[in-house]
Amino acid sequence: MMKVVVTGAGGQLGKELVQLLKDDYHTVHPFTKQQLDITDRNKIEEMLRKIKPDFLINTAAFTQVDTCETDIDNAYLINGIAPYYLACEAKLKKVKFIHVSTDYVFDGNKTVPYLEDDDTDPKTIYGKSKLLGEEFAQVAYEETTIIRTSWLYGHEGKNFVNTIKKLAGSPKEIRVVDDQFGSPTYTKDLGMAIKQLLTRPPGIYHVTNSGSCSWFEFASEIVKCLHSEAIVSPVSTEEYGLATPRPKYSVLSHKKLNSNGIYMRNWQQGLQEYLAKEDDESGN
Ligand SMILES: NC(=O)c1ccc[n+]([C@@H]2O[C@H](COP(=O)([O-])OP(=O)(O)OC[C@H]3O[C@@H](n4cnc5c(N)ncnc54)[C@H](OP(=O)(O)O)[C@@H]3O)[C@@H](O)[C@H]2O)c1
Repeated sequence: MMKVVVTGAGGQLGKELVQLLKDDYHTVHPFTKQQLDITDRNKIEEMLRKIKPDFLINTAAFTQVDTCETDIDNAYLINGIAPYYLACEAKLKKVKFIHVSTDYVFDGNKTVPYLEDDDTDPKTIYGKSKLLGEEFAQVAYEETTIIRTSWLYGHEGKNFVNTIKKLAGSPKEIRVVDDQFGSPTYTKDLGMAIKQLLTRPPGIYHVTNSGSCSWFEFASEIVKCLHSEAIVSPVSTEEYGLATPRPKYSVLSHKKLNSNGIYMRNWQQGLQEYLAKEDDESGN
């Protein structure tokens, strides 16, 4: 049985991870933003001194990609500097540190899955600030594990699946970009892999559901699973006109994950379980 602190516990991954760790009878200390602001180094020190956990898992982040472009100071503070504080304090207290990062650290120009040691070249403030967080944490503490994931969705989260679910209830056509490719990832599947990674060597790991698709294919699959009559139409990124660039291709390779004995189910299976659980919870 291990003692685990989870920061960002009010977020979609944080909530799921706390539940999964509790299911395994670990002693979990969840901290929402209100309970622990990760930009407050003194509070981090005090918390680790009191709790003395075995692991510190940071799921907290400034995740609104568009808002990061204008609130640059907060993006770098929360995504870049706070992971440094967490890593420094974890090192001082000899606590293993696990930090969650993103596919946005890559430029999206590859056409085959990104490996952990491929060159990074983020194109957005969100991606740049998250990369800084990775680098700071690793420099501060060699025992850091960085988990890069992508296209995340979890229960009660503000995410693509929940947006399409809402739109699928109305007769309006749903326009979705068909020229950006990635791997949709269910927070439960990511959380299960994070639990396994607690006992693997530190370093960077890519963790997503298996397989890949475009946002259009993802939306079409959601609509199909919901047995909705909604019409999903493909549009190009250019036609859609997003304010902040998104990687064209951000599929992450599982080679390293698999060589550590961890395997991910495909994204369609994750989605089916997610939607079935949502359906149960809504009493349908
Ligand atoms: N969502 C995705 O598609 C995606 C893709 C790739 C990687 N990731 C990474 O995966 C991780 C989890 O993402 P998620 O989707 O679960 O994000 P999320 O739902 O936005 O959760 C992040 C949580 O962090 C909290 N937070 C923000 N600033 C904080 C601070 N200063 N101190 C403490 N907590 C703070 C947020 O609180 P408020 O909401 O109150 O601000 C929120 O509860 C993040 O590292 C993210 O970068 C996400």
